[in-house]
Amino acid sequence: MKRAYIKNIAYYVPEKILDNKYFESILDTNNEWIVTRTGIETRRMAREDETIFEMGLNAVKNLQNKGVDLSDIDTIIVPTVTKDYIFPSMAGQIQKALGLKHCFALDFSAACSGYVYALNTITALIESGQSKNVLMLCSEKLTKDINWKDRGTAILFGDAATASLITGREDGRGVLAMDMQSEPDLTIVLNGGSACPIRAEDCDGADFKIYMEGGETFKRAVTEFSNSIDRVLAKAGKSLSDVKFFVPHQANLRIIQAVAKRIGLPMEKVSVTLNKFGNSSSTSIGLALNDALEKNKIKDGDLVLFTGFGGGFTWGSTLMIW
Ligand code: ACO
Repeated sequence: MKRAYIKNIAYYVPEKILDNKYFESILDTNNEWIVTRTGIETRRMAREDETIFEMGLNAVKNLQNKGVDLSDIDTIIVPTVTKDYIFPSMAGQIQKALGLKHCFALDFSAACSGYVYALNTITALIESGQSKNVLMLCSEKLTKDINWKDRGTAILFGDAATASLITGREDGRGVLAMDMQSEPDLTIVLNGGSACPIRAEDCDGADFKIYMEGGETFKRAVTEFSNSIDRVLAKAGKSLSDVKFFVPHQANLRIIQAVAKRIGLPMEKVSVTLNKFGNSSSTSIGLALNDALEKNKIKDGDLVLFTGFGGGFTWGSTLMIW
């Protein structure tokens, strides 16, 4: 049986680093609160004129710089919450930039669960034979959607892009099981769609920036992370003790620690990059995976667990034999 696996991954982050001192200068907050309550020390911020497409293409170029040939890509999936255009799709723009003719390109958003939702969707496309070589591109410019006066959200988010090459293999390694769930909820909202369209005069207004009830989101994230992990393990006939490495969405270190404790994994077996990059939505899991691979923390044959939670609400997991 053909199983999907992540053959290679690369990332791009903008040059500008925002540290917690910066937020001390614009908000009633301090480094100690931010570090102890979130684990975040720095995050990246794109240039004003830097587009989501440009960041995404930089991640793709970094993948090519690793020697990856993208000429036989037949599918491009872009699960991002931030956008340059409503349409054309970002996936289509990347297809054009790569000069790929026989390819299907699709954008969707599942907020911070984007990486896992896309990985699971791509797994189904590969297992069904619809797709063979898939480029999954995540690119987020969340700093353009931040309410800089809201200390509960402004400190959390950063900009980044990741490019993952996903293909099939038949030696038993790859994706073993998937889980995805969602629920309509307005605890985290980013307006600007037809329900609350942006007019020129209120482009900078708080109604059109990320709104989040942090405490509720926190509690729900811990609960649904755990529920999703239980379901994906049950589907694969595995138990918590089989998991060798955990790559979670990077929203808050306390969420990650609580879930790691429940799984019984020491933090050395959990990838954490939010200290450097904050929460960069769909790119977070890719950044964390890339970091773990660069540090040789994941060995061939390890059972690796990916879990995401995001606005929507959305949540899900992927269990993969590396
Ligand atoms: N500096 C200082 N104080 C702050 C700050 C800050 N930056 N932010 C909030 N506070 C204050 C609050 O005003 C509150 O003060 P009060 O008691 O006087 O009212 C107090 O700290 C406690 O506020 P809480 O919101 O309860 O703080 P909490 O410990 O929950 O941390 C946080 C807030 C960091 C937002 C946390 O709730 C969190 O990480 N939530 C989850 C985020 C998440 O999982 N997101 C995933 C999806 S995101 C997406 O999909 C786009």
